[in-house]
Amino acid sequence: MTHNELIATLPKAELHVHIEGTFEPELMFEIARRNQVDIPYTNVDDIRAAYNFHNLQSFLDIYYAGAAVLLHERDFYDLTRAYLLRCRKDNVTHTEIFFDPQTHTERGVAFETVINGIDRACRDAAQEWGISSRLIMCFLRHLSEESAFETLDRALPFHDKIIGVGLDSSEVGHPPSKFERVFAKAREHGFLAVAHAGEEGPPQYVYEALDLLKVARIDHGVRSEEDDALMQRLIDLQMPLTVCPLSNLKLSVVNHLSAHNLHRMLQRGVLVTVNSDDPAYFGGYVNQNFIELAEALDLSNEDIRMLCKNSFKASFISDAEKEAWYRRIDEIH
Ligand code: HPA
Ligand code: ZN
Repeated sequence: MTHNELIATLPKAELHVHIEGTFEPELMFEIARRNQVDIPYTNVDDIRAAYNFHNLQSFLDIYYAGAAVLLHERDFYDLTRAYLLRCRKDNVTHTEIFFDPQTHTERGVAFETVINGIDRACRDAAQEWGISSRLIMCFLRHLSEESAFETLDRALPFHDKIIGVGLDSSEVGHPPSKFERVFAKAREHGFLAVAHAGEEGPPQYVYEALDLLKVARIDHGVRSEEDDALMQRLIDLQMPLTVCPLSNLKLSVVNHLSAHNLHRMLQRGVLVTVNSDDPAYFGGYVNQNFIELAEALDLSNEDIRMLCKNSFKASFISDAEKEAWYRRIDEIH
């Protein structure tokens, strides 16, 4: 089997995708029109042309502007359903989806509107297509600790629909330590914890995510490689890193995919996974990330198989479910 056939055929989990980052220009236009919200673009090509980011902040400015057309439960449903349809195409059989409540509640959209739209699309996809999912709500780290506490309180009535909390948005200058107390409270309530760290920020932020936020996974984490002791710790703990190659390329975390450290980390024994992050903005869903990475880093079929197994291993499904996916992967040749 060629690389691309194997990538297309293997079941996989996605563990790092922001639902607001799956907002394709076509749907953005349709929802803007439906809601009679003005957007500063005259057509879909205009929107795509605006996507010339050079770092995280230049991306985030456009990403938050795009999300501002989402107002009603139906909008969140349509957004999530479109992403899950892409999962079906890419053989993503399980997905753990981030959403940013504050991006919406700060605009006056109710928490319940957001969660109900996303959750209903997930339940429909489970029933119609057999795709399982979990939801992780992220605190925006450029906002205050107080705003994060408020968001946690708003989430409590919907705890049954949310498996964990995460931390995203502008990394540098907003270390994990800023959210130590709110993560402690979230964990007391039984939420699992993950956090973006070591994307643009230094290895120190990865240490803080582990030691202060007590995360079960690190999102991105690619800058951990700058610190040997940290690398050894990630290997010893088998702490998953949810790596996003095309995102790293678009946001200039790496200058070329061929310079990406994912393969090196995999060979050293780090539990790395491949994910799309914000696929509508970065030029590819999960399989495209696999395809371009395999080409740039000359990955073997065994590497690809291992990365798909890792995606389930690092997920929040049960051990029995993980074993069943490993067997499915072993059966495919
Ligand atoms: N990093 C930080 N914040 C984000 C990202 C990311 O990759 N995507 C969406 N919000
Ligand atoms: Zn991300």
